[in-house]
Amino acid sequence: MCQICQTVTATENKVIDRVAQNASNIFSQRTLEKDYRTLISALKPGLRVLDIGCGTGAITKDIAHIVGSTGYVVGIDNTASFISEGKSLFAGIQNLELVHADLLDFVSKEKFDLIISARTFQWISTIDKAIDKVKSLLKPQGQLSILDYNHEMINWNPKPPVSMLHFYNMFLMWRKDAGMNNRIAFDMIDILEEHGFDQVEVFNADEHYERHFPGHLENIKIWSKVANSKQMVDEGYISDAARLDAIKDYNEWAESEAISMTLKLREVRAILNS
Ligand SMILES: C[S@@+](CC[C@H](N)C(=O)[O-])C[C@H]1O[C@@H](n2cnc3c(N)ncnc32)[C@H](O)[C@@H]1O
Repeated sequence: MCQICQTVTATENKVIDRVAQNASNIFSQRTLEKDYRTLISALKPGLRVLDIGCGTGAITKDIAHIVGSTGYVVGIDNTASFISEGKSLFAGIQNLELVHADLLDFVSKEKFDLIISARTFQWISTIDKAIDKVKSLLKPQGQLSILDYNHEMINWNPKPPVSMLHFYNMFLMWRKDAGMNNRIAFDMIDILEEHGFDQVEVFNADEHYERHFPGHLENIKIWSKVANSKQMVDEGYISDAARLDAIKDYNEWAESEAISMTLKLREVRAILNS
């Protein structure tokens, strides 16, 4: 692997470890019904499903429930702590297997009817390689479903403090420079068509949080959790003082002024044309 590729991969892994672990409470409380609701229409008993970037397997275990004892679900994630947490949480589910693996290294003797991935392709800088790998794991006419963000279209009401807007803009720049696509949810349609998928369907799946709704404040505060990582300071994108200001100002805004936050999400679903 070239030096730049190694650096990008190492950077991604470090940030995913830090950012994702800071947000692990949010991940482990996710459910299929609440957090990947559009997928339900693609699920039926007997399917063999792969979930790429499954986190602790919170959504994956709900999929296992629907495909039932005649189906089977494998969840993979490249953060070891998420997989070990999921293995102990969901040990009793017979048709669910959680594996610590990076997508690009994952091998399976049997191919899958359906491959899904929620909020994970946003972190992958080698999208073409990743989609080629997905194709190699799908059965002919198998289905792919990717749920992901368009980070360029976040909407806060009212606008958050300037310090957080500055942090967020630097976050988008840092991600772009590391090869990650900030609008992957919207670009995925063209990417899949270029890779030989067809029957592409798109489902709106925006995440909308209102401060006064039970549990939503923690989701609105996600950006101060992201800013807890010093990664962008270490790499020269923002000063530590500006980062700390963003956390303090944003938490105050979230507690007192925030009305709502909408994260733009889409599920893109397609069939492998071979
Ligand atoms: C934002 S979390 C989403 C977790 C879960 N799918 C959900 O929607 O709650 C993204 C996950 O993708 C994993 N991940 C990122 N790149 C990966 C890769 N190349 N292979 C496997 N897992 C990956 C991270 O470790 C992280 O757990």
